[in-house]
Amino acid sequence: MPTPRAPAPMTNSWTTRPETADDVSAIREVNLAAFPTAAEADLVEALRASDAWIEGLSIVTEDPDGTVVGHALLTRCRVDGAPALALAPCAVLPRVQESGVGSAAIRAGLEAARANGENLVLVLGHAEYYPRFGFTPASGFGVRASFDVPDEAMMALALDPDAETPRGTIAYPAPFGRVG
Ligand SMILES: CC(C)(COP(=O)(O)OP(=O)(O)OC[C@H]1O[C@@H](n2cnc3c(N)ncnc32)[C@H](O)[C@@H]1OP(=O)(O)O)[C@@H](O)C(=O)NCCC(=O)NCCS
Repeated sequence: MPTPRAPAPMTNSWTTRPETADDVSAIREVNLAAFPTAAEADLVEALRASDAWIEGLSIVTEDPDGTVVGHALLTRCRVDGAPALALAPCAVLPRVQESGVGSAAIRAGLEAARANGENLVLVLGHAEYYPRFGFTPASGFGVRASFDVPDEAMMALALDPDAETPRGTIAYPAPFGRVG
């Protein structure tokens, strides 16, 4: 009899949920593994301790065993003084990258933000990745960074396409450092 093949990894088997106090060290590990330095792991912790933190908008992706394998974070920033959200960082354990883990966390984070009545979301990142969630260049919203960045890398998304969005320069919360 032929040996049964192991099932192919399912890209839709990831579950997402807001972080709890028990996830703090796993989230740090995911960020340490995903990025070359500890900067993003430290950023998450500094944001968690800041007034930019919004409960329910730090999302983890779990594998079928309940292990945290991905993370996406939305925190408060401002555009021309009006509230907006910054999506950063997004991180996935290298062993499961490119299997839907990051997308699951980001989609869940955006849905949670929409449910909270949030509208404008900004992300600075890979111009090939974020458009799949609806992000387009922030310049099209009249929104810009206070530092030099390629136009296509600073992106924005309006969760409510019928509502007005603020225009102007992004003010990041202090933990983002020089970009703040
Ligand atoms: C970027 C990251 C969060 C994406 O999460 P993921 O679970 O690996 O990606 P998903 O499975 O959701 O999506 C896969 C798609 O993303 C694309 N992608 C993954 N990493 C990418 C990158 N660094 N740049 C551009 N596209 C990327 C893949 O090419 C794939 O595209 P396709 O669907 O057109 O084939 C994750 O790969 C990661 O942690 N990378 C290292 C840290 C990082 O760069 N974070 C983002 C900072 S902006």
